[in-house]
Amino acid sequence: MTTTTRVSGSELFDQRTDEVLRNLVDTGQFKTLQMIEGPMDATMKLRGYGEVACFCSNNYLGLANHPEVRQAGIEGIEKYGAGTASVRFICGTFEPHAQLEKTIATFLGVEAAYTFVSCWTATEALFPTLCEPGDIIISDELNHACIIDSMRLATVIKKGVHKTIFKHSDMDSLREALENAVNNPDVTGVMWVVTDGVFSMEGDIAKLPEIRKLCDEYGAMLAVDDSHGTGVMGETGRGTHEHHGMAGDAIDFYTGTLGKALGGGAGGYLAGTKRGMDMIVQRARPTLFTNALPVTVACSANKAIEILMREPQRVQKLRDNVAYTRKGIAEVGFEVLESPTAICPIIVGDTAKAIAMSKRLLEMGVYVIGFGYPVVPEGTARLRVQLSAAHEKQHLDMLIECLTKLKAEIG
Ligand SMILES: Cc1ncc(COP(=O)(O)O)c(C=O)c1O
Repeated sequence: MTTTTRVSGSELFDQRTDEVLRNLVDTGQFKTLQMIEGPMDATMKLRGYGEVACFCSNNYLGLANHPEVRQAGIEGIEKYGAGTASVRFICGTFEPHAQLEKTIATFLGVEAAYTFVSCWTATEALFPTLCEPGDIIISDELNHACIIDSMRLATVIKKGVHKTIFKHSDMDSLREALENAVNNPDVTGVMWVVTDGVFSMEGDIAKLPEIRKLCDEYGAMLAVDDSHGTGVMGETGRGTHEHHGMAGDAIDFYTGTLGKALGGGAGGYLAGTKRGMDMIVQRARPTLFTNALPVTVACSANKAIEILMREPQRVQKLRDNVAYTRKGIAEVGFEVLESPTAICPIIVGDTAKAIAMSKRLLEMGVYVIGFGYPVVPEGTARLRVQLSAAHEKQHLDMLIECLTKLKAEIG
């Protein structure tokens, strides 16, 4: 019998975890969660700071605290309670879920949709369910983490699913990846191309018409995560495809969130062909093994989409706010990546510097978050300014004034 001198698991865990956490503190990268003391709107109440102008929420259309969105949630809980305490295939589906899925499909211009507790979960359902051995997934290198993890999961769950990346929005690189796939004897199945519609950290837009053209040339399918495009891009907020003048069904599958423009509570969805959604309902692990979106959230999201369709002027107001603010930030002398989206990143470089700048802005009453590694690649830390239709000119001017002060302080 061998005796072991190993340190105990808990001792080892404590040591190595403390080391990581200490390092984060020492390098100024430790994140502190703020306490919020009221609803999300153009301004919000933060413990220790009072009322601050909020420029870090994805509440793009200002619907998170809309009276009708709140009321819909209240009516939902009164009529249906908290939930079924079950997954949908066991106990069934509430009417608001079915209604919401119909609304999402109609809104996007596709056959069907299916909701989940988050877009992360929806995306996790996509590739592991719809891919088969011999398929390849070709992904933009800056795609959201949920796409990356869904791809990883697909290759683990189904041996023989392949994955590769193309350079960010680089059509030569995408063509090369498709060409390599076509010539790879192991790729015998479906080729999938996947991209964010609006890239969450850069705020730039996928070249969907060019990507679609390449997909058609090579016979590939196209999936788009339009979490930051839905409700924001296009004349009526349908999303990045509408911005490009494309029909909804020009995209084979969408993933999206209800936790940003469409109510802001939580929740996500897949949308596309009925065949695809049927397969998701039958086989996806996140439909078979986890509960549905809370019914209150489904009711609120239904209402949020109804408001968006009824009041497309919200999208126009957001667009005006974006144009005004981008111009203002550039005039202050900060370099803001050019784009019409509601995400305006100011690249700073160093993570600790981005966090310090964010802290200083908060002291001035403006809430903008600094993002660093591992959310963005090392050396590309940034302040991410996010705009909303809830903002009025006074909020935008306050942001620009505080950025001007900050610029003077840091030189
Ligand atoms: C592009 C993108 N996709 C997906 C998600 C995840 O959305 P959810 O919060 O609904 O899981 C996010 C949220 O950060 C995102 O930015």
